[in-house]
Amino acid sequence: MTEPKQSRPKGTQDFTPPDSERRRHVEGVFRHLAECYGYQEIITPTFEHTTVFVKSSGEGSDVVTKEMYSFKDRGDRDLTLRPEGTPGVVRAVIENRLRIPCRLYYVGPFFRYGRPQKGRFREFGQLGLEALGEASPLVDAEIIYFGAGFFEDLGIRDCLVQVNSIGCRACRPAYRNTLRDFLLDRSGQLCADCQVRIERNPLRVFDCKVEACRVAVKDAPTPRQYLCTDCEQHHEQVLSALNRRGLRYEANDRLVRGLDYYNRTTFEYISASLGAQDSLGGGGRYDYLVEELGGPDTPGVGVAIGLERTLLAAPAEPAPARRHSAFVVWLTEAERDAAQELADRLRADGIAAQVDYGARKVKGQFKSADAAQAACCIIIGPDELAKGVYSLKDLATGEQREVASDAINEAVRALFRD
Ligand code: HAM
Repeated sequence: MTEPKQSRPKGTQDFTPPDSERRRHVEGVFRHLAECYGYQEIITPTFEHTTVFVKSSGEGSDVVTKEMYSFKDRGDRDLTLRPEGTPGVVRAVIENRLRIPCRLYYVGPFFRYGRPQKGRFREFGQLGLEALGEASPLVDAEIIYFGAGFFEDLGIRDCLVQVNSIGCRACRPAYRNTLRDFLLDRSGQLCADCQVRIERNPLRVFDCKVEACRVAVKDAPTPRQYLCTDCEQHHEQVLSALNRRGLRYEANDRLVRGLDYYNRTTFEYISASLGAQDSLGGGGRYDYLVEELGGPDTPGVGVAIGLERTLLAAPAEPAPARRHSAFVVWLTEAERDAAQELADRLRADGIAAQVDYGARKVKGQFKSADAAQAACCIIIGPDELAKGVYSLKDLATGEQREVASDAINEAVRALFRD
């Protein structure tokens, strides 16, 4: 077989029907749930000034050093296709002076130049929440619970929630130094990347997938052992709010997450069904990010869920039900215009309707109706036209009856079962 001349770029995907519908369904479940929790949609550009990401995701993070799609535009500006949503949302909140506190959600495409594999794409969808101006640990817990509820709504049963705290400006420096010393003692065992991380951002070493590095940090001191009293209390309140809800979670002392802006709470949703890229989503608290991007001192916490990974982990839908749509079938050329007029009338009344104008035979039109998974066919032939009626065929049961032309809309609606 010869390669098609034009193929999609590596790491991207086409969502053709019915996959596009599954995807839209997942987005719909997310939007609905986000709005139930009081979040409103924010739409920000798909590219930003590169500095927005360098300043927030972090100069030492893999996302910034290895995975960004950065380019100069024709005006010599340094721009980057967004690798994640949080920095752009925070930038927009500051720039538009949104009233704090605010709860925002987003759905859209993101871009990371990684090695494509199962669950890892160069263009992927994220579903995210950001709560700005909320310092309470109850908000951390609410967001963690939100994500767990979202996966449950989609029938994902094997989702494991991992939670950790990585401290704050007060307690992190001491921890960082201790970890740095620990890693310096073992630098010979670490990969080249991690050797650089020792000085730049030693916490990143916990994220390294290289086996030798994993072994080397097995007994490393963890952030939790160094939390200050305030951080310890915050963390306990997060956990007790999760316990009150009966949410099962796992404490993971090594969960530092791959982005630099986090403090205190970090969490991730893991699914064993995903293989190596097992994180369905993740997030945490970022109390310094708004200030670092030039805004007022404002705490924040959020989550982002990977759309493709959610689709991979969710059980396949049952066979799709017949759609809420009608198919208008004409028997001879003489009824074709009447078919088009009826379809227009149905659509004007909010009923989805299709006509196969090009069909040469009635059988072909019924096939098209089946392919479109229409709920019913409305048949117009010379007899129907003469009598001022339509023949309405329920495609689920095969039953057919005559319906007066002014009663057709109601009769069609009655066939739209869930
Ligand atoms: P993140 O962990 O980098 O966090 O990404 C969140 C989720 O996006 C991942 O758990 C994964 O499901 C999905 N994801 C990331 N990269 C890819 C990829 N290359 N292909 C497919 N899916 C991917 C963030 O992005 C933070 N902004 C989350 C956050 C929001 N923290 C606070 N607020």
